Amino acid sequence: MSDFSSFLHNHRVILAPMAGVSDQVMRTLCIEHGAQLTYTEMISAQGLAYGSQKTRSLLDRSPLEDVVAVQLFGHKPDVMAREAARVEDLMGDHLACIDINMGCPAHKVVKKGDGASLMLRPDEAHSVVQSVVHAVDVPVTVKFRRGYASGEETAPCFAHVIEDAGASAVTVHGRYAGQLYHGKADWGVIGRVVKSVTIPVIGNGDIVDGKSGRQMMDTTGCTALMIARASEGNPWVFDSICAALEGRDEPMPPTPLERLECARRHAHMQAAYDPYSIVRMRKQAAWYCKGLPGASVARAAFNHCSTVDDYDAVFDELECYNVDYTMSQDEVLCCAQRCEDIKKEGVRHE
Ligand SMILES: Cc1cc2nc3c(=O)[nH]c(=O)nc-3n(C[C@H](O)[C@H](O)[C@H](O)COP(=O)(O)O)c2cc1C
Repeated sequence: MSDFSSFLHNHRVILAPMAGVSDQVMRTLCIEHGAQLTYTEMISAQGLAYGSQKTRSLLDRSPLEDVVAVQLFGHKPDVMAREAARVEDLMGDHLACIDINMGCPAHKVVKKGDGASLMLRPDEAHSVVQSVVHAVDVPVTVKFRRGYASGEETAPCFAHVIEDAGASAVTVHGRYAGQLYHGKADWGVIGRVVKSVTIPVIGNGDIVDGKSGRQMMDTTGCTALMIARASEGNPWVFDSICAALEGRDEPMPPTPLERLECARRHAHMQAAYDPYSIVRMRKQAAWYCKGLPGASVARAAFNHCSTVDDYDAVFDELECYNVDYTMSQDEVLCCAQRCEDIKKEGVRHE
């Protein structure tokens, strides 16, 4: 078993890269709740080459990330190799692997020949991977989809090409690029990729809780699980998946007040990390509150929030809607005190 294979066996529950969502603040919360490996949002190799500070800040590590996987996108072997080497220098021992995005279906990415469009050009994909593998010492992995055009499953052959180029693992999202995020992810393709390569396969697509995580692992034989949308406003999903994989009972879901407390903390962490990034919290806040009494009014209010105080005011309001009459008076007081502490002292950001 390769070193990276054993690393993945010990880091089976993974937070997916999500552009515009999985920044270092969200990653911190997911790690606190059991995510064993995290990925940066996808980072343009060309953007790094231009020296863009905004692109560069996507490499910021969470204080809880001993190691992090950095995901790059691009299609020029020389640029990808040079920027991967630069990332390796910058991140030092904190880099788990370089992951190459060959699954993004977004028009602005595909039209430049990046992301999922590389699945249509396996020779070029091979050159990109081979160049990056030669340029860095850390493992190189690739994330891709079932295929490009709907109905044309190319992932098992494509995985073979990627392995031949020297990749240490692949992640397969069981949808075609043409499907974007519609329809159900096909887990059968993950099993077929597992059979077509000798490197570890990370399964991705529609894992929503411990039960589905366990099922994905049992039915496909994948080595590790990658979770994206189910973690939005729900870092607790990692606790559930870890419990299911370890054969423990899944923990109780968080109460409405626990969800609101975590959302409040998230907002304060976001402000402490970078006050300008606080608008990102709008969608995060809406996810935390989904389904709670008062959520639709709050969602509209979040869209006008631009300071952490604005968010606190909406959370205060939501707490009144979500008083939990099963809680003892002491529990209510403790919860209120924790929220006051977050408001007064903020959160520490290292
Ligand atoms: C908002 C959003 C942003 C995403 N950004 C990326 C990205 O930067 N890189 C990538 O490889 N996949 C990205 N994805 C795809 C996810 O990593 C994942 O493959 C997909 O959502 C399927 O997993 P899920 O069913 O657990 O959500 C993104 C998905 C979403 C919803």
